[in-house]
Amino acid sequence: MSRSSTVVWACLLWFVAVGSSYADSSYNHYRLPTSVRPEHYRLEIATHLDDDKGFEFSGLVGITIIAFENANNITLHAKNLTIDQTLIQVKSLDGEEQDISLDSIEVNPLHDYYIMKLSKPLVKDGRYLLKMPFKADLNKNLFGYYRSVYTDKSTGERRWLAVTQFEPTAARLAFPCFDEPDMKAKFSIILSHDKKFKAISNMPLESQTPLDENWVQDEFQETVPMSTYLVAYSVNDFEYDEVTLKLKNDVVFRTWARADAMSQVEYAGWVGPKVLEYYETIFDIKFPLPKIDQIAVPDFSAGAMENWGLVTYRETALLYAKNVSSTSSKHRVASVISHELAHQWFGNLVTMKWWTDLWLNEGFATYIASLGVEHLHPEWDSLKEESVENTLDIFKVDALKTSHPISLPIKHANEISQIFDAISYSKGSCVLRMMHLFLGQSAFQEGVSSYLKKYAYKNAEQDNLWDSLTETAHKLKTLPSEYDIKKIMDSWTLQTGYPVVTIERNYIDGTAAASQERYLLDTRTSRADQEECWWVPLSYTIQEESDFNNTQPKKWMECNEGVKKKVNFKSLAPKDQWVIFNIQLSGLYKVKYDTKNWDMLIGTLMGKNFINIHIMNRAQLIDDALDLAWTGDQDYDIAMRLIEYLRQEQEYIPWKAALDNLKQVNKILKKTSQYDVFKKYMKSILDPIYRYLGGLNNTENAITSERLYEIKHKVLISGWSCRFEVGDCIDRASGYFKEWQSSENPDEKNPIPTNLRSVVYCTAIRNGYEDEWNFLWERYQNSGVASEKQIILSSLGCAREPWILQRYIEWGFDENENSKIRKQDTYIVFTSVANNVIGFQLAKDYLMENIAKIYKYFDPDTTKISRLISPIASQMTSEKEYLEMKNFTDTNNEYFSKSYQGVRRALESIEINTQWVTKNYEGIGERLRKFTK
Ligand SMILES: *[C@@H]1O[C@H](CO)[C@@H](O)[C@H](O)[C@H]1NC(C)=O
Ligand SMILES: *[C@@H]1O[C@H](CO)[C@@H](O)[C@H](O)[C@H]1NC(C)=O
Ligand SMILES: *[C@@H]1O[C@H](CO)[C@@H](O)[C@H](O)[C@H]1NC(C)=O
Ligand SMILES: *[C@@H]1O[C@H](CO)[C@@H](O)[C@H](O)[C@H]1NC(C)=O
Ligand SMILES: *[C@@H]1O[C@H](CO)[C@@H](O)[C@H](O)[C@H]1NC(C)=O
Ligand SMILES: *[C@@H]1O[C@H](CO)[C@@H](O)[C@H](O)[C@H]1NC(C)=O
Ligand SMILES: [Zn+2]
Repeated sequence: MSRSSTVVWACLLWFVAVGSSYADSSYNHYRLPTSVRPEHYRLEIATHLDDDKGFEFSGLVGITIIAFENANNITLHAKNLTIDQTLIQVKSLDGEEQDISLDSIEVNPLHDYYIMKLSKPLVKDGRYLLKMPFKADLNKNLFGYYRSVYTDKSTGERRWLAVTQFEPTAARLAFPCFDEPDMKAKFSIILSHDKKFKAISNMPLESQTPLDENWVQDEFQETVPMSTYLVAYSVNDFEYDEVTLKLKNDVVFRTWARADAMSQVEYAGWVGPKVLEYYETIFDIKFPLPKIDQIAVPDFSAGAMENWGLVTYRETALLYAKNVSSTSSKHRVASVISHELAHQWFGNLVTMKWWTDLWLNEGFATYIASLGVEHLHPEWDSLKEESVENTLDIFKVDALKTSHPISLPIKHANEISQIFDAISYSKGSCVLRMMHLFLGQSAFQEGVSSYLKKYAYKNAEQDNLWDSLTETAHKLKTLPSEYDIKKIMDSWTLQTGYPVVTIERNYIDGTAAASQERYLLDTRTSRADQEECWWVPLSYTIQEESDFNNTQPKKWMECNEGVKKKVNFKSLAPKDQWVIFNIQLSGLYKVKYDTKNWDMLIGTLMGKNFINIHIMNRAQLIDDALDLAWTGDQDYDIAMRLIEYLRQEQEYIPWKAALDNLKQVNKILKKTSQYDVFKKYMKSILDPIYRYLGGLNNTENAITSERLYEIKHKVLISGWSCRFEVGDCIDRASGYFKEWQSSENPDEKNPIPTNLRSVVYCTAIRNGYEDEWNFLWERYQNSGVASEKQIILSSLGCAREPWILQRYIEWGFDENENSKIRKQDTYIVFTSVANNVIGFQLAKDYLMENIAKIYKYFDPDTTKISRLISPIASQMTSEKEYLEMKNFTDTNNEYFSKSYQGVRRALESIEINTQWVTKNYEGIGERLRKFTK
């Protein structure tokens, strides 16, 4: 309050001097100066939710800082905050309290810096208190401190709530702070609000004080040292269910949701404590906070956010409605909660030094969560499927030239949000699984635990992890003493891509050689020019042995100093026996064999003992054969002959691998004159499995079965079957839908089996007209179950009427206060229309004509734009379409500042489609006819 007016004057002068251009800020480095660090924040915030001030928050932050050297300024992050400079205070906490006045303020909008130049320098080792008042709108941007809305069922009223989303760099939108992950500090949070609301934050409530008749102030306990991006608070009128986990420390678990959704929190309340307990055991470190709140937020940008002690979720990721949600959505809830709770150790307790190592957070959380879900639901047997799915996903994504390494230098905030992608999550998870399998259980678990203990409440980078693991592995002798983890793992985390290992067998003397090169989908690039190599753990088995249990490497393919070396085998296998490398897909590499080996494999797959080959390796053979055919490394004939065995395959994982590959062929062919032949072929391979699974019949099993594979299998196969008009699929689906339409109270009574709804809805809408569409749209509006609403949204895009689809896209981008589609769900609407053969053109035109508007709609989270471009690009198949997309993205460059990674990938995917068409389109008809039975 006692600021001198000289501050304002100096600041005005500065504005005059520099004008409106900030380009030459006197501090332009992308990292904060290291001269000062925060030690403690006292953060007071008043939240106005639709009261006389409208929607706004205002506050005061008091930051205790330590100077590590003499410094003439304090530089921190602040963005979009109104800060009254005259009220900023800086005082020394050493000896007599002494005010330091500000000389001037400088703002650097490129890096969101707020620089306070001081009249007197901070002294090395001194402690200071900085106080700054601030305020801002409580907007609907889904980032920073924002507002969300829902409709109360009984009164029909709109109800507001306020909640935070800070990762990666949005804490600065909510309060001035040192917004970098290694600037850890303790936080004391104080929230004042209308007393009709409740407030929650990272820590338990310590005290509540009435401020006046309607207004209260809640003070929360001080946190442990933590990064700014993990701070969280919310003001809402939700209810909660409480579970106390009986552990040494009695962690209190509360699951929060809007009142109408409280019947859907039970499952989350079971998963949370149970998986937390599992992690405490495997990491051998107890959860340090007294409580965890998990809250279902109606408007939420990501899937969920692991804020320490207050985990926020999309409703679809936390709520599970018995009799309405599918088993897959239950699986999703278990996975997401397990992921977020794994972060309480990986990310919260030990945090990456800088965003470059984001994968340490995300890869670990993804991998550990798959172990967590397996522990929660052994009957689901989900670990295999998740491992295969992640690996096959990365085989596609990381075969692009435009992919990037797991560990990536980050020099600007715009780059950070883009690396929350498949590479950080899925590839991170794959390489950790690979390491787990080659090190063995005890070395992995002990190494990880010692890393977590060593860096608790601190920051670490990947080398620190490698050191802990090397030490443990050498101690337990699970890694040759001349090898170290850093050498091996750097080849996977610092380089883009993964190898294809070629096995050359000499059938006369029984020897063999293995070599590696990077696998690329773009075949115009010469493989031989690719210099990189990887440390590849070679596990394998031969036909008579058929031991698919041992995933330990029998040999290592080395890559010392980046020099590729062949691995020689003196006697690999008898000449009449096949060999399979990469047992259970334990390594991230493809395998290419000679025709003779493939022929022997095909022989076994077509025979009655095909299940002697492990299910994950059946999926691997399918994916490798189809990919190598796609790129022309091998003849398509091998792949086509191999997938013939699917006619006797009854399991989900191999089918998933096959159909994921055929999906791309389908996308390319669906607008061509050869589609007829492709359809006949697809019908012929789907028919036996459709009948085996009973089509859309036997739904009792599908409702009650706890066998996740069976359910996913039925959904996958019936989805394809209805699209290709196999058997009675369409009739059965339309029949179910009609039954629902004639239900007296369709919002209460839905006769369609929950697990089949996604297939039935889409099929009925695809084969129906306005009535069906309107009926389903109405159900969407009336449903109180988020997972059901999401399935409906993706099904509404299955329509065939252009005007309905066009209107649907427009509704998806409606900024109106009363829009029925939430911003978080817009990409679901857009993608479902774009993937529809009729909707494709409409979606493409909409994107290209409205990019400025779309940018504004998503701002500040414009990374989402790459999610719109990818479904469009994946269906573009010619040079002309490539140029069209290239011109579009070049001309509108400014809108892709946070999605350029996605744009580059999209452009490359068009080139790859085009190459495929050039190589394969000519002969495709004849080939497909040959294999159609
Ligand atoms: C603020 O102080 C730090 C440490 O002395 C220095 O590196 C930085 O350049 C200063 N920033 C400005 C804008 O003067
Ligand atoms: C779910 O359906 C079963 C069988 O129809 C019924 O017994 C149960 O009460 C229902 N549960 C809920 C939560 O509606
Ligand atoms: C592999 O493991 C499974 C389950 O543990 C066991 O049933 C099977 O006999 C093992 N196979 C071999 C070849 O050791
Ligand atoms: C589904 O059940 C109906 C009636 O029982 C039967 O006619 C039909 O063949 C069955 N469909 C499949 C694919 O099993
Ligand atoms: C900044 O505030 C303005 C005005 O409230 C708002 O329109 C804009 O979306 C905000 N920007 C961000 C990044 O939140
Ligand atoms: C490139 O895009 C611009 C603006 O979108 C358009 O005016 C121009 O005709 C396009 N050029 C080509 C070759 O498509
Ligand atoms: Zn995560």
